[in-house]
Amino acid sequence: MEPARFEAIVVGKRFHGYATELLVEAPNAAGAVPGQFMHIKCDGRDGVIMRRPYSVFDAAENTISFLVKDVGRGSAWLSARKTGDILDLMGPLGRGFAVGDGQRSILVAGGTGIAPLHFLAGCMKERGLCAFLLWGMEGGDEYGELPNIIADRFDLRLSSMDGKRGIRGSAVDLLEACREEGCTALYACGPRPMLLSLTDRARDMGFTLFQVSLEERMACGVGACRGCVIPCSTPTGGYLSACRDGPVFDEGEVDWRRIRESISA
Ligand code: FES
Repeated sequence: MEPARFEAIVVGKRFHGYATELLVEAPNAAGAVPGQFMHIKCDGRDGVIMRRPYSVFDAAENTISFLVKDVGRGSAWLSARKTGDILDLMGPLGRGFAVGDGQRSILVAGGTGIAPLHFLAGCMKERGLCAFLLWGMEGGDEYGELPNIIADRFDLRLSSMDGKRGIRGSAVDLLEACREEGCTALYACGPRPMLLSLTDRARDMGFTLFQVSLEERMACGVGACRGCVIPCSTPTGGYLSACRDGPVFDEGEVDWRRIRESISA
C-alpha cells in the first residue's frame, strides 16, 4: 500500500534550547504509534529537495509534533518554518514500539533519541503504565529547557558526560538505578555506540521485552533504495531496512557484532 502523502500546516513552534518543536495539523497521522516517523520534504543544499525522517515527538487528535535539531541544511530549513507554512509529509512510516500490558518500563534515550521515547512515555501514561525516562547527552549545557518541560509529565532522569546536568556519565550508566525498580521492559533510541553499550550491559539483565529504535539516514523511507540497511542476526546473515522493517527492532533481531565492526572500520 502506498504511504500517505499530504500537506500539513504548521500551527505552532517552540524553541527549547536543545531543538525546535514544530507542531503541525495532521489528522492523517492520527494513527501514528510511538517509534514511527514522518518523512518530511526539506530544502537541501543547492536547492536540492530531499526528505528527512523525523520521529513523532508528541501527538494529539489532530496534531503531531517533531523535534528538529539544526544539524545541516535540511534541518536548518525545517526549523526555520513558521506558523502558517505548509509542509509536505509522508507517513506515518515504519514499525513502532510494542507496548506490553502491566509492565514497568525503562526508556533510554541518547540525544535526539528522546523524540520517539517521549511519545512512547506519553502513550504508556495514558494506559496507566509506569515508565522511567532516562536521557543522556554529551554536554549538560546542550539540554536547554526541554528537560523541564518533559519532567512536568514524566519521571525523567538525566546524565551528561561532563557532569553539568544529571549524573556524570551516559544514559546507560543510569540504568542500574532504575533496574532496582522492578522493570521488565527496556526501550532505547540513540546513536549506534550508545545502543552497543546498552546491549552489552542490558542483555543479561533479564528484561522480557527489549526493543531498540535505530537512527539511520533515509532517502526513500519505504524500503526501495536500500540505503538504510541494518545487519540482521538470522543464521544466513543479510540485512533489514530500517525504514520499512524498523526503525524499531527487537534487540535480538540485530547483528550487533557486524554493527560494531562497521563503527570501528
Ligand atoms: Fe530507502 Fe530505507 S531509506 S530503503
